[in-house]
Amino acid sequence: MEQERKIPAHVAIIMDGNGRWAKKRGLPRTMGHAQGAKVVEQILEDADHMGIKYLTVYAFSTENWSRPGSEVKALMNLLRTYMKTSLAKCAKNNVRIRVIGDKTRLDEDLQASIANLEENTKNNTGIGFQIAINYGARDEMRRAVQKIAAEVKEGKMDARDITEQTISDHLDTAGIPDPDLLIRTCGEERLSNFLMWQLSYSELYFTDKAWPDFDKAELEKAVDAYNHRERRFGGLVS
Ligand code: IPE
Ligand code: IPE
Ligand code: MG
Repeated sequence: MEQERKIPAHVAIIMDGNGRWAKKRGLPRTMGHAQGAKVVEQILEDADHMGIKYLTVYAFSTENWSRPGSEVKALMNLLRTYMKTSLAKCAKNNVRIRVIGDKTRLDEDLQASIANLEENTKNNTGIGFQIAINYGARDEMRRAVQKIAAEVKEGKMDARDITEQTISDHLDTAGIPDPDLLIRTCGEERLSNFLMWQLSYSELYFTDKAWPDFDKAELEKAVDAYNHRERRFGGLVS
């Protein structure tokens, strides 16, 4: 009998290749981002239907500020539109949204729409959708250390009592299980400062498909590959 397929509880995605996708078609890079944004919405629904409980996507890194101002602006505008238009859909699909990353560097109106979306979806019980914006794993760890140091200074915690769990609990992903599967699209095989703490034992899957061409069949392929992995967590094969 065929063994039942395991569905990873948490899938993280480095959505890469929007620019190359557009260039290949003679389009401006921003058109690649616009198409990429549509794909995220579809993949969120597909992931939910497949039984994935958490989906985390890398939308904008702390390093992406170094791109031309016009591209940064276009990306921020796409995020702005998403935060404003997705509320009804999230309500309908029972999606719970959390933005990870340092939000304080974002424009105030965007911060306000993010806060509104998070607040209005926080009691939803369906898929948890994390969007990484102005996110860098090193920056996230720096902020976590700052929070922990402040608690120690205030006498709320003894430095000797800091455990790995303490660190997890002070990251932006607090309360969310670590990703089981990381997918990166468009041929690049690196983390680019994404979830470095949380990905310690995740299975890594790389595909040459550019993000705007990613679809449910590709997600299924990644989950199939995941099913052929043997997760040992440092132990021995049973
Ligand atoms: C991913 O696509 C989206 C972001 C990083 C915001 P890219 O914009 O990195 O596309 P390529 O890698 O240049 O093709
Ligand atoms: C990683 O992609 C960041 C996002 C997908 C948001 P990049 O395209 O910025 O990464 P590098 O520059 O190739 O490492
Ligand atoms: Mg890229």
